[in-house]
Amino acid sequence: PGEYDAWAVQVRRLADERGAVVLAHNYQVPEIQDVAHHTGDSLYLSRVAAETDAREIVFCGVHFMAETAKILSPDKTVLLPDHAAGCSLADSITAQQLREWKAEHPGAVVVSYVNTTAAVKAETDVCCTSSNAADVVRSIPADREVLFCPDQFLGAHVRRVTGRTNMHIWAGECHVHAGISPADVRSQIAAHPDAEILVHPECGCTTSVLDLVSNGDLPADRTRVLSTGGMVDAAVATRAGQVLVATEVGILHQLRSLNTGTDFIPMNARAACRYMKMITPAKLLRTLQTGEGAVDVDPDTAARARRAVEAMIAIGD
Ligand code: 13P
Ligand code: SF4
Repeated sequence: PGEYDAWAVQVRRLADERGAVVLAHNYQVPEIQDVAHHTGDSLYLSRVAAETDAREIVFCGVHFMAETAKILSPDKTVLLPDHAAGCSLADSITAQQLREWKAEHPGAVVVSYVNTTAAVKAETDVCCTSSNAADVVRSIPADREVLFCPDQFLGAHVRRVTGRTNMHIWAGECHVHAGISPADVRSQIAAHPDAEILVHPECGCTTSVLDLVSNGDLPADRTRVLSTGGMVDAAVATRAGQVLVATEVGILHQLRSLNTGTDFIPMNARAACRYMKMITPAKLLRTLQTGEGAVDVDPDTAARARRAVEAMIAIGD
């Protein structure tokens, strides 16, 4: 604890001196979640990035998140402590692939998950996150075709809850969430039959969990599909003894610190994102000491991408 306190004091002091706000995603390591000025899900962090008065944003998350902050606050410096912190989902579609897909469906509205590069956002009509994807799709007139990318599991979930039939879904996935499988769900439910269940819609098990609810094998009032921010809210509110959590395991730190009376159990304990964990306490400190690691987005790409992100923020969650 002494070592942590000294590091945290130094991080906060350097951030103050630089006029920097430190943002952390819910999958960051515990020390970073605790030291950040704001910790949350992708939508919340992009709102903070758009509204902050700070001169500089230090983004503890992955590259597309820092790019989104830069797109929304182009006059600010956005620092990312390790530029190798990528995302397998963002890598699953390129701007060229999206242009080709659009050419096959003229007139379609493109909805891209925020887990995409700035170049893909620039080819997009409206972005979405896991907390607002269904609302974004509902906001599109029913007679317009929708191209939804890149996550196939989130896409399937949105199709299910909106009932949209004229929606095409790209076959991308996040390697971490795709790995949380129907088999994990079966064995964890058998081991913890009374647990509440929280599922992130990027998971490979989302459809099978909802099928279990439709068949009456899982109680609907104990099973929810939520963004990481929605899981944090649910963790504060729950009175359950056990909650099974299907998402990246970094979220467990927040859930457990917010509610010590509930046992939060990972649906798959191996679901760790190596990219999120590239942002270490030592790298965060070095970034604040040196000011290195600025993320830049070409102004023309940023301006086109900004329209899509702002269209999403206007829709809300
Ligand atoms: P949310 O925090 O928006 O739920 O996103 C999850 C994710 O995979 C980010 O990488
Ligand atoms: Fe990307 Fe998956 Fe890691 Fe999120 S958990 S940053 S979607 S690779």
